[in-house]
Amino acid sequence: MVHLLFESTFCTKSFLYLRMSIKSSTFAAEKDRSMTKEEQYQELVAQVASVVAGETDTIANMANVAAILHKAFGFWWTGFYRVEPIVESQKSKVERGELVLGPFQGPLACTRIPYGKGVCGTAWAKNETVIVPNVHEFAGHIACSSESNSEIVVPVRLNDKVIAVLDIDSKEFNTFDETDQKYLEEIVNYLSGGTQTLQ
Ligand code: SME
Repeated sequence: MVHLLFESTFCTKSFLYLRMSIKSSTFAAEKDRSMTKEEQYQELVAQVASVVAGETDTIANMANVAAILHKAFGFWWTGFYRVEPIVESQKSKVERGELVLGPFQGPLACTRIPYGKGVCGTAWAKNETVIVPNVHEFAGHIACSSESNSEIVVPVRLNDKVIAVLDIDSKEFNTFDETDQKYLEEIVNYLSGGTQTLQ
């Protein structure tokens, strides 16, 4: 009983601390529909910076970034695929691992994506952001959901090497443009700070 009470007090305090430590304005982005996309992103960048500050676990930070973006824009699927680290004994047999599903928000998704395959594997292989206005016209697109119509995939880099990709799917066509690219690339940069759990 005492233990439960302590845990519940601790969780409440931690949550309050988190709420207090994130500037109150950073929650406005998801509410204020009068803001431009650029203004929304500017608030989200500040929110992400605040949330990841001091946290070195990349997977935990990816989970919060996926939640922040998903809620703010109401995307269909928002999440990460991580480049699977190859263990020492595999190094002579395979050149690289695959993308493996990481933290995400939305319906269930494909678990693994090989290098160069689909939009995600293409962004990994090219080491650049890929914007797809109409996924049905992208050769090799991997359809995890029939509801998705446009997509953006942004590489997450550590020392210029791709360690993961941020993948966002929209039910609408033509959702993503250079504004999304600019700010999403800025946001994923915050994930390169702590990478002890990745390769
Ligand atoms: N469409 C992606 C696969 C991942 S899901 O969309 C979540 C691709 O073509 O790589």
